Amino acid sequence: MTDAKTLWHGRFEGGPAEALQALNDSLPFDRRMYAEDIAGSVAHVTMLGEVGLLGDAEVSAVLDALHEVQAEMEAGSFVFAASDEDIHTAVERRVTELAGAPGAKLHTGRSRNDQVATDLRLWVRGELDSLQELIRTFQRTLLAQADAAGEAYLPGYTHLQQAQPVPLAHHLLAHGWALERDLDRLRDCRRRLDVSPLGAGALAGSSLPIDPERTAALLGFGSVFDNSLDAVSDRDFVAETMFVLALLGVHLSRIGEELILWASTEFGFATLDDGFSTGSSMMPQKKNPDIAELARGKAGRLIGHLGGFLATLKGLPLTYNKDMQEDKEPLFDSVDTIRLTLLALDGMVASTTFVTETMAAQADSPYAAATDLAEYLVAAGMPFRDAHGVVGAIVRKALAGEATMAELVAAEPALGADAVALLAPGAGVRRRISRGGAGLQPLVDQRERFRSLVAAD
Ligand code: ARG
Repeated sequence: MTDAKTLWHGRFEGGPAEALQALNDSLPFDRRMYAEDIAGSVAHVTMLGEVGLLGDAEVSAVLDALHEVQAEMEAGSFVFAASDEDIHTAVERRVTELAGAPGAKLHTGRSRNDQVATDLRLWVRGELDSLQELIRTFQRTLLAQADAAGEAYLPGYTHLQQAQPVPLAHHLLAHGWALERDLDRLRDCRRRLDVSPLGAGALAGSSLPIDPERTAALLGFGSVFDNSLDAVSDRDFVAETMFVLALLGVHLSRIGEELILWASTEFGFATLDDGFSTGSSMMPQKKNPDIAELARGKAGRLIGHLGGFLATLKGLPLTYNKDMQEDKEPLFDSVDTIRLTLLALDGMVASTTFVTETMAAQADSPYAAATDLAEYLVAAGMPFRDAHGVVGAIVRKALAGEATMAELVAAEPALGADAVALLAPGAGVRRRISRGGAGLQPLVDQRERFRSLVAAD
């Protein structure tokens, strides 16, 4: 047994066992929510004063103490006690030390159950706002690289087999659009979590005249809970945030994987900047795309956090259960992980040089023009299935070495000399005109739509 004085010591004869404390304490990880915890208490105490549960002098004593605690936390001079089970306990203990008797009124009409839910919502709300900025920054980097790419093109792939030539800018913007959906999901998630649970108490609200709407307003929440049981049980916002970040991580992993492929000798489409690459301890010639590999790898961790936390929540009876303390570590780690990954990948993409000659040389394979040849026949009135057959036969003969694609196209009555022009470098990307398609012409509109999106806010 330790002699730590717990929040519930009145009901207990002995102190907590060391093993209990070691397992139970969340302070090591929830102390990073100190600012949110203090903000929640400031709002709560202000409201308690307004409804007459605390006198003016008491309110100002507690507010002064809260500001002092904030200053100590910021300065790193706050001294934690063995009994500080979590950040809520620590702040309340110190406020009581500083403010004396009025400090003991801080917890009036409030439980750590509504308090922790409030703190965590405030914390996530702030993080989502700053992550939105990082995503925007990365989108702008992709746009800058797309602008710099000019009319460069590369083979587009399906099944990782060369399919049709596509503009490099189109390929880069494809990732930008996926990030736009991530942003949209973040905003959506933020909107849903912007509900104050403060005032729900342990689970049932209070017999005291507290004003949950007032604390919600003071904390800048968009709305206030309707059901106290739900308010303290709800961790949807944690799961949703982890899902949004996991999917964002999946998107980053796909960008990472492409950079890995493109930087390989076999592809030779990209040269990585030294500052964003690593070397080998043994092989002097190596330059490795570690950031891209970590972007690929970190997605596994983000997915794991989501899956693990859903398993924790599954089957929990209403309302608060200590299992729910397991929300914080994976959530914090998801946010930290995605932040680092976004920053590093952004730097990597910004500093990558695309080897457009190699890209073009691969995309200029006459076989890559096969679909455009078939569409040329369609434009002349041939049903697509027949056109596919005609061009397929030409490809087969060329692959068998009977003649070159150009010779076979010229010799085919339905195609002829005019169609040979489709085999010219870059012909495909100049011909493609459909909206959103991989052609230089539709790219103009797409790029401007994307530009105005990322310029906003
Ligand atoms: N540290 C706890 C958590 O993170 C705070 C809530 C504690 N509530 C309780 N009834 N023990 O979930």
